[in-house]
Amino acid sequence: MDVIHTIEALQARLRIAGPVAFVPTMGNLHAGHLALVRNAREHGNCVVVSIFVNPLQFGPAEDFQTYPRTLDADCAQLEQAGADVVFAPSVAEMYPTPQQIEIVPPPIAGELCGAFRPGHFQGVTTVVAKLFNIVQPAVALFGKKDYQQLFVIRAMVRELNFPLRIIGAETLRAEDGLALSSRNGYLSAQDRQEAPRLYRVLRNIVGQLKSGARDYAGLEGTARQALESNGWRVDYVSVRDASTLLPPAGKVNQYVVLGAAWLGATRLIDNIEVSIDSVGPV
Ligand code: PAJ
Repeated sequence: MDVIHTIEALQARLRIAGPVAFVPTMGNLHAGHLALVRNAREHGNCVVVSIFVNPLQFGPAEDFQTYPRTLDADCAQLEQAGADVVFAPSVAEMYPTPQQIEIVPPPIAGELCGAFRPGHFQGVTTVVAKLFNIVQPAVALFGKKDYQQLFVIRAMVRELNFPLRIIGAETLRAEDGLALSSRNGYLSAQDRQEAPRLYRVLRNIVGQLKSGARDYAGLEGTARQALESNGWRVDYVSVRDASTLLPPAGKVNQYVVLGAAWLGATRLIDNIEVSIDSVGPV
């Protein structure tokens, strides 16, 4: 496995590589990232993983400075998982001059997480577009854990005709249901115990949707209350049409139930897709 820090060296390495399957990350890797890497193995001759904490997608009051940077440990795990190339550029390599051209994401990027993190998705689309142009992958893999991010990137690739295929991978969870996240490491022992409640309240909504409930505002309100009465500060709990990410209107075939909430200083997000004609437990 090659660990490469410059665009020039990366492109020299990739000239002889064949089709690339690409997994962009910000490092501090966990089993969810590694599952994407293993999945990537099935889609390209050469698996490239980028590790770059992108300043453009962090708000001024967010955790850019303190975001964990663990390159050596990440590379050891990536080697095990079968990555061929790690691309770990510096901020100066990615942004040698202030970035004056950005990719404006679609209006849906202003809702859900975007309503609480202004500019976040524009920072994501801009860095992902740059990474796609640098790596020129045949396929790129993203986790459904960041459902709105995956949705926005799919829209960008479609509307700007990026010549690659996007694959969305299922969310990997701890045994108690908590979605794996680099930010889980910020949780105190007590908050870690509490954290799976987010997934439980979303599952509860899914169960009710499957039983025929359609009072979306009522379902959202009950879930919000269940979190708030246990010490959470809720950004949103929202039932959406998975095909548009908009609030459901008329007949919906697939919903996605999304939530974002704070435990202490840690913001957690999660979501569950639900096909309305499916049967059995979620
Ligand atoms: P990061 O948070 O490091 O996540 C990298 C990829 O791993 C994303 O596609 C994310 O959805 C996926 N991922 C995270 N947790 C997961 C889990 N529990 N199960 C499955 N996949 C999971 O998302 C970013 O970085 C950045 O915004 C990035 C796209 C790299 C742009 O800077």
